[in-house]
Parts: sequence; structure tokens; C-alpha cells
Amino acid sequence: MQSLINKKILLGVTGGIAAYKSAELVRLLIKAGAEVRVVMTPAAREFVQPLTYQALSGHRVYVDLFDAEADSAMDHIELARWCDLLLVAPASADFIGKMAAGYADNLLLTLCLASRQAVAVAPAMNQQMFANAATAANLEQLNARGTLVWGPDSGEQACGDVGPGRMLEPAHLLANIEAHFQPGRLQGVELLLTAGPTREAIDPVRYISNRSSGKMGYALARAALRAGAKVTLVSGPVSLAPPAGAKLIAVESAQEMYAAVMQAVAHSDIFIACAAVSDYRVEQQAEHKIKKSTQAMTLALVPNEDILAAVSALHQRPFCVGFAAETRDLEKYALGKLDAKHLDMIAANLVADGSGGFETDVNRLEVFWPGGGHSIAQASKQEVAKQLIDLIGERYTGALSAEPGSA
Ligand code: C5P
Repeated sequence: MQSLINKKILLGVTGGIAAYKSAELVRLLIKAGAEVRVVMTPAAREFVQPLTYQALSGHRVYVDLFDAEADSAMDHIELARWCDLLLVAPASADFIGKMAAGYADNLLLTLCLASRQAVAVAPAMNQQMFANAATAANLEQLNARGTLVWGPDSGEQACGDVGPGRMLEPAHLLANIEAHFQPGRLQGVELLLTAGPTREAIDPVRYISNRSSGKMGYALARAALRAGAKVTLVSGPVSLAPPAGAKLIAVESAQEMYAAVMQAVAHSDIFIACAAVSDYRVEQQAEHKIKKSTQAMTLALVPNEDILAAVSALHQRPFCVGFAAETRDLEKYALGKLDAKHLDMIAANLVADGSGGFETDVNRLEVFWPGGGHSIAQASKQEVAKQLIDLIGERYTGALSAEPGSA
């Protein structure tokens, strides 16, 4: 089946041994009906001759910035505009680092900067280089800016090492490209999401908060955007880059979060409460910094409004998804909240056994809905978010079609 008919793919090849696999990818893309143009970095030429890609794609291969400029039919800005997707495969550690830093000292880097279309990278490198904190930070930064990061795979490497760093196989990359062009399950759906911690002021310089980093909520926002949703993200204070394409409403306290959610909820089809909202606030916030004394001090706390419970109690309510972070009796507490807050779904995780939760980059979830459930195995928060958004999409569309009067 020619699933990619009329799709224009710009394939960037950087200097890595996996460059030979990209030749196979070009063949698969052409077979699937796509139009393919190839851009190589100067280092990539050391691995595979441009002629290979030229023969397979049926078009000249661009290497130098000035090649593209010399081709009056397609200068570098036009090339960036021409494509529906720019995929860099293999993407070396060096290229990923330069991309993250915004370098533009070769044609392919320039195209990555100039592209308004989706950009994906398929990392390929030695496992030790992949494990390096600098590579992890660069990939995290690209991901936060909306670049799709596909892979890497784990296994035997050209250098003899074994571990994560292999480029995804061409057939796997083709499947990702096909999935990318499928209309998302949440196309056009308005999704409202809370993320991060809240801060409850004690005085002008001190506050009560919790360990939430916002990583899970931000990963969910990105996964929802990729599934086609229009995302409004109400976020407590975090140090994460806002997901490109989401409407971000930054708040500090639970009261501010409540007000922002209540204002935005009228237009929402789905509400995901991922924030770790402070259950209590300080009853009397001091106007000035409280002075140190030798006396014991007591802070009077009053409960905050439960935002999720308030949304789910609305007459015209969105599909409501809650989170439950527990240190024990996960299922019992999660089912209790599902019922008490009248939720459509709850995603629960243990925060005490090291398998995920606050601050970490991995997570594992037990998801429940009235009459059913599903486990999401431990994986990166990105992957867990994708699976949870798929599940929410399934349940949400199921709930819509079960409504009386719907077709
Ligand atoms: O009852 P508990 O706070 O453990 O419930 C957790 C769920 O409720 C999470 O989805 C959280 O985002 C939401 N919540 C809320 N407002 C609060 C407290 C919790 O939306 N004040």
C-alpha cells in the first residue's frame, strides 16, 4: 500500500556508520509513494557516496550550503519549506549537540533551523556517547522544543559494544513516518491539563511545595499535541521549556490554578489533572518576611479547593482524568479516588519504589476506569505519556459514541 503518496520527505544524513541503512530507508520511502530529497553533512560523505542516495531518490543530493544556493530551483530556505517532514537519520551525537545549540554551519543544520515543518531525529551513536549526560541533555532540549526523537534502539554496535545507541531499523523509521502522517486520535479535541507543583506562600520569600518536576504533565501535553489536540497547559512553577504549540498559563498557588482551570474549562473536552496540587495553604500569609526567633512556630493551614473534584462536579463536564501518587496500597487508593471524584479515568503510580514518579525521567502507571484497567510498563515519561494519551483517546472516543443520540 502506498501510504505516503504526495508526502515530501527531506532526509538528512550525518556522519555515522548507520548511514548505509538510510539508503534502504530512501528505497522504502519511494516504494511507499513519498518524494524524497537527501541532504548530507560533509562527514556523512566519508561513509556513503552521494551517488547512492541520488540513484535511489532520483534527485541530486545536497551537501554544501552553496550547492543548494547554486541550484536556482531550490535554495536552502526553499528546501526547508518544500518538505512535509525533515528526518535526520542517522543523527550523530555531534549533530544533535549542534542542533540543540542552534548552530548553522552546514546545509543540514541550516535546514533544521529554517524548517517550519516537523523535524525528527533518529540518534545513532556508541552506547557510552548516548549515555553521556551531555547527549541526554541535548536530546531532552530538542524534545522539549518539539523535535521528534525516534529511538535509539538497543543491541550490538558496529564498535563491538552492546547497549542503547543503534539507529532504529529502516522499517521501524518508515512505520514512525507513516504514523506521523496519520491524523491523530485527538484531532481538534480541546484538552486542558494541569502540571507541576503549586507553591503556597508563607511570607514573601518562603513557601510550602512538593517534589513535582512537571515532567510527566509536560510530556502529556506534547503527546496530546502530537495526537492532534489543542492543548491548554496550566502549569505551576517548573524549570521546563514550554511545549511548542500549547497555550501555557503559568500559575503559582493552588488558588491561582483553580481560577485558571475554571476559566478555561468551559471550552474543554478532556481535563487531565496531573499537577501535584498542594492540599493545604497557609491560612494567614505574612505581609513581611517572618523574623527568626528561638520560639517554636505553628503555621495554621487550611484546605485548598480540590480542582479535579470541582471540574468533575460541573454540570457540563469534560472527560476527567486524575492522577494518584501513592506510597502504598496503590490500587485501593486509586479506585477510591476514581469513585470519590467521579472520574472517567485515573493514572496511578507508586512514588516510593524507585520505578517512577516525582522528579525522575521514567514512570510506570496503573490506569483504572469504571469497570476496567490497564498497566503501562516502566518507560521514559515520553513513552508513558504517549501510551496514556492513546488510552485516553480510546476511552474518550468510546464515551462519545456511547452517548445517547450520538451516531
Ligand atoms: O486526592 P488527591 O490529591 O490525592 O488526588 C490527586 C488528583 O487530584 C490528581 O489528579 C491531582 O492533580 C488532583 N488534585 C486537584 N486539586 C487538588 C488536589 C488534587 O486537582 N487540590
